[in-house]
Amino acid sequence: MPSESPRHRPLRLAGVATLSLLLAACTPDLPLDSLDPQGPAARQIDNLFWLTFWIATAIFVLVEGAILVAVVVFRDRPSRTREPKQVHGNAKLEVVWTVIPALILTGIAVPTVRTVFDLTSCEADALPVEVIGHQWWFEYHYPQADVTTANVLVIPAGRQVCLDMTSEDVMHNFWIPKLNGKRYLIPGQQTTLTLEADEPGEYWGQCGEFCGLSHAIMRARVEALPESEFETWLVAQQAPAAEPAADSLAATGKEAFLGGACVTCHVIGGVNEVENAIGPDLTHFASRSVFGGASFETNAANLTAWLADPPAMKPGSLMPNLNLTNDDITALIAYLETLQ
Ligand code: CUA
Repeated sequence: MPSESPRHRPLRLAGVATLSLLLAACTPDLPLDSLDPQGPAARQIDNLFWLTFWIATAIFVLVEGAILVAVVVFRDRPSRTREPKQVHGNAKLEVVWTVIPALILTGIAVPTVRTVFDLTSCEADALPVEVIGHQWWFEYHYPQADVTTANVLVIPAGRQVCLDMTSEDVMHNFWIPKLNGKRYLIPGQQTTLTLEADEPGEYWGQCGEFCGLSHAIMRARVEALPESEFETWLVAQQAPAAEPAADSLAATGKEAFLGGACVTCHVIGGVNEVENAIGPDLTHFASRSVFGGASFETNAANLTAWLADPPAMKPGSLMPNLNLTNDDITALIAYLETLQ
């Protein structure tokens, strides 16, 4: 085997890296796969994408084919006797190859513009939910039920949800690839996005706008439930927090919550009140599968690490290291786990 020239090594490495990236895109069941629509809005985008893709492919084949034919037929060779006919400056040809692309673009513009408007126009009976972006987590408010939650957006499957979105600090972008395209969350403005899942299930999302240090782990989780289960969930969320059993570890945790810095930023319904709380509402914290910008599974190990040093898990986190003792942490977790 001939030895590899050191000059070609970077090139070869770049080739392998590119190929790996391409092959990684073929992995089945990717949670953020935008080519796997699971709802009407995402399907509409998908249809538009494939329509445009195939038109572009046909144009690519025709143009590249014409170039290849010209290269072969009109190539210079000893047997050639005269120059091919020159068409530069031919007004009729210029008009033809300007008008054809203009017509194609106009043709594509019609379904494109219609789709753009459809994706953000809500049906009259859609379920309204307010989405508020924070560095670095999404807050959800159900105005009809007056329920506030975070990180996990619970929706009824098969029914349109109308998201009314804004941001508390910088620009964020709400994106659940399998359900709809991206839409900005802008401080001081309202934007609208529809969301609908065909089937119950879990759908992953990601903030789509660079919004600071922990943008990469500002994720979103949508949980679509059958309509009846959704109604049950909503009623349960309206209830105040469960009261821990007297003299239990959870009761000690509740005392630690009330006696510590937690109460300056977090609300637990029926326990404390905070004007313009800057942290997530914790009333039903344990009913959410993920926390911390939907990046960490809600379990004792992750909560222990989080409470010990939040910025270590989410760089730049507004929640500081509170220097909690191990006893405090254990008690707080016991209390959080009762908040179903
Ligand atoms: Cu929020 Cu990126």
